[in-house]
Amino acid sequence: MAAASEIHAPGTPQAAIFVEGTSAHWFQHFAVEGGVTAGRVLTAVRTVQQAAGSVNLVIGFGSDMTARLGLESPPGLKPFSEVTGGSGRRAVATQEDVFFWIHSDRHDLNFEVALAARRAVDPLGVLARETPSWVYRDSRDLTGFVDGTENPAADEARELAVIAEGAGAGGSFVLAQRWIHDLDAFAGLPTTEQEQVIGRTKPDSVELEELPANSHLGRVVHTDEDGEEIEIYRRSVPYGTSTEAGLYFLAFTDDLAKIDLMLAAMFGATGDGLHDRLVTFSQTVSGAYYYAPSRETLEGLGLSG
Ligand code: HEM
Repeated sequence: MAAASEIHAPGTPQAAIFVEGTSAHWFQHFAVEGGVTAGRVLTAVRTVQQAAGSVNLVIGFGSDMTARLGLESPPGLKPFSEVTGGSGRRAVATQEDVFFWIHSDRHDLNFEVALAARRAVDPLGVLARETPSWVYRDSRDLTGFVDGTENPAADEARELAVIAEGAGAGGSFVLAQRWIHDLDAFAGLPTTEQEQVIGRTKPDSVELEELPANSHLGRVVHTDEDGEEIEIYRRSVPYGTSTEAGLYFLAFTDDLAKIDLMLAAMFGATGDGLHDRLVTFSQTVSGAYYYAPSRETLEGLGLSG
């Protein structure tokens, strides 16, 4: 029989990660000043949980904040660092400490939660960025392409995007990245050329038979040593105005190396001389990694699970 210390009971992931179909989203990133105690941070987070009520709330902590809260760090947790390569573009790094993903079908209720969160965290640091976002048509990116076709279903995602055992079990790693599209440049391409950029057809999202190696699909589809496709759980949503708009990219994984690989391939950092054509039409203005702890870990901090 294994010693008790070797047994790691799997934790339960935050339920709001897997609630699909909500139409209104809001993302907030807070930078917390160095001298602020863990107790004050947790009091603020508790206030936000109470304000959320029936609105879905996912809580993430950056690697520094994870340590400040006294949590055991899941293997591979790190701050996001810039990705550069032969694409001439950069995946910029703007790491902060506390991340809230607020989502529901009510933009007005999301606003109330976001306002409560800003007020709760204000005395501890700064709201570094926030992005109200929304589902566009039949879950399309603003380029007009369906986003999410090959995304795993929520039950499958619970398997592949959640840390299975050991430190952080039941938790998940998060990439949050704001992209600004050059919608005018993209719209200037004929549809067949746009499809070459993405690697799928535009009206019905069918994968191209001859997939260009520098298409988005050509760069993000990778297999592991067993020949299995490396998958992440994407929950991205569009945001913006008629002058500045794009995709708020949000993804969950059990291993940040999976996301590192996809980003390296997109930005031309894998040494094969290729990069994703998509990055010439869209650029990142933020990028951060977070750890969304399990419900049990949150409860251990005195928060709601
Ligand atoms: C400008 C930003 C981005 C846009 C507009 C975009 C758009 C899309 C679209 C339209 C698809 C095809 C439909 C689907 O299966 O969902 C797709 C697939 C995918 N994207 Fe992105 N994406 C972006 C950024 C990223 C990033 C940063 C990553 C990874 C870090 C990523 C990873 C993936 C993966 C894994 C797939 C599924 C590929 C497959 O299995 O067929 N995407 N994306």
